[in-house]
Amino acid sequence: MKKVITYGTYDLLHQGHINLLRRAKELGDYLIVGVTSDSFDRGRGKLNVRNNVLERVEAVKATGYADEIVIEDYVGQKIDDIQKYDVDIFAIGSDWEGKFDYLKEYCQVVYLPRTEGISSTQLREESETVFRVGIIGSGRIAKRFVPESKVVNGIKVVSVLNPDEEEAKSFCEQFQLESYHTDFDAFIRGVDAVYVASPHLTHYNYTKRALLAGKHVLCEIPFVLSEAEAQELYSLAAEKRLVLLEASKTAHCPGFMHLVTLVKSGIIGEVVDVKASLSKMVEAPTRELDASQAGGSMTEHAPLTLMAIIKLLGRDIADANFHSKMQDGVDIFTKGVINFPHATASITLGIGVKTEGNLVVSGTKGYVYVPAPWWLTDYFEVRYEDQTKNRKYFYSYDGDGLRYEIQEFISMIVNGRLSSYRLRRRESIAIARIIEQYRNHTDVTEI
Ligand code: CTP
Repeated sequence: MKKVITYGTYDLLHQGHINLLRRAKELGDYLIVGVTSDSFDRGRGKLNVRNNVLERVEAVKATGYADEIVIEDYVGQKIDDIQKYDVDIFAIGSDWEGKFDYLKEYCQVVYLPRTEGISSTQLREESETVFRVGIIGSGRIAKRFVPESKVVNGIKVVSVLNPDEEEAKSFCEQFQLESYHTDFDAFIRGVDAVYVASPHLTHYNYTKRALLAGKHVLCEIPFVLSEAEAQELYSLAAEKRLVLLEASKTAHCPGFMHLVTLVKSGIIGEVVDVKASLSKMVEAPTRELDASQAGGSMTEHAPLTLMAIIKLLGRDIADANFHSKMQDGVDIFTKGVINFPHATASITLGIGVKTEGNLVVSGTKGYVYVPAPWWLTDYFEVRYEDQTKNRKYFYSYDGDGLRYEIQEFISMIVNGRLSSYRLRRRESIAIARIIEQYRNHTDVTEI
């Protein structure tokens, strides 16, 4: 019996796939089809696949050509499968010509003619509404946003708002946007959603005005600096059935999300301590060192570190206290201890003091160690007393990582989902509450 194997994502199954499967089947007596898992596709940067793995498997089954279906979940699996299933022929479309010659060591490799004029990418693009997004602010993070948005389907950054006309114009030219604005009303009319990337103290106002104008909002961190403001904005968004998402990029990063689910499933036992540190040195003059612009390590770095703590330990905070090293009214270093009824956590933040930016989650059975920079999680280790049980986990963290939060933002809009499990509204409100507590100087000691 001649066995043939072929692989693909088979998203929105189309005639090209059907032709390919028929041709592959005709090469032998038995056809095995490898369908990529959702996480494998995400890991290799295919973020826009519409059908989940079960739907894609069902679609391949329905063609009637597959005698067996396997799930492709890791790089190198093709070699394993070919040997395991005793495969004679590996077949794939001609768009891959030459790319799989390395498999010739294990079986015959055949490139089959690809059907012209159709692909899943094309179908996704044709059936998609493209949301027009405007950016408020044109600083460093806004500049990273535009290229990242290009790898996500369904979004087009069209305009920028900045009261400084020169800045707005130069940003618009640099990224070849449709328009630039200094006037909010003119700006908001031309967009479906906004990305708020302006100075901290303007987040609340811009977000509120955008929501009142009926637009979805993705707001940079720190979202807002008080619990009441956060609550008000989320209520307003809910009332108007609009998406409001805090742009906590680490919460959307695949490696960090997996860390949370692993810890929550008990692999290190009960979590007793979380230590999160984040430092990025800055030099004056910069808004981070400007007290009048709410600069400081707490406003800069607490949102991501508190997000990690709250995701892992919840929002049931018993008390918190902080120690800060101040310079010109700004905390260039802050150490905070946050106590829970049965656990404790600490944050160590710096903009003028360099700390090792790692994350350590300690439990009754073991601990998770994420080396610096933990907030761009692409690797972590789970360690135990018995070192033979230690495990290392690797992930891809593509580009600047903003693509993951952008994709979630668009997916929430498309699906009318007002809440994201990656960062719940109540979790975002809890972050604002702790930052507010700090800024009100409750339990803050100067060192
Ligand atoms: N294929 C084909 N003809 C097409 C499209 C795909 O023969 N018009 C083949 C591919 O070469 C591959 C298999 O179908 O052997 C599965 O491809 P997949 O990547 O799932 O499909 P695409 O439509 O190419 O998907 P995408 O646009 O997401 O890359």
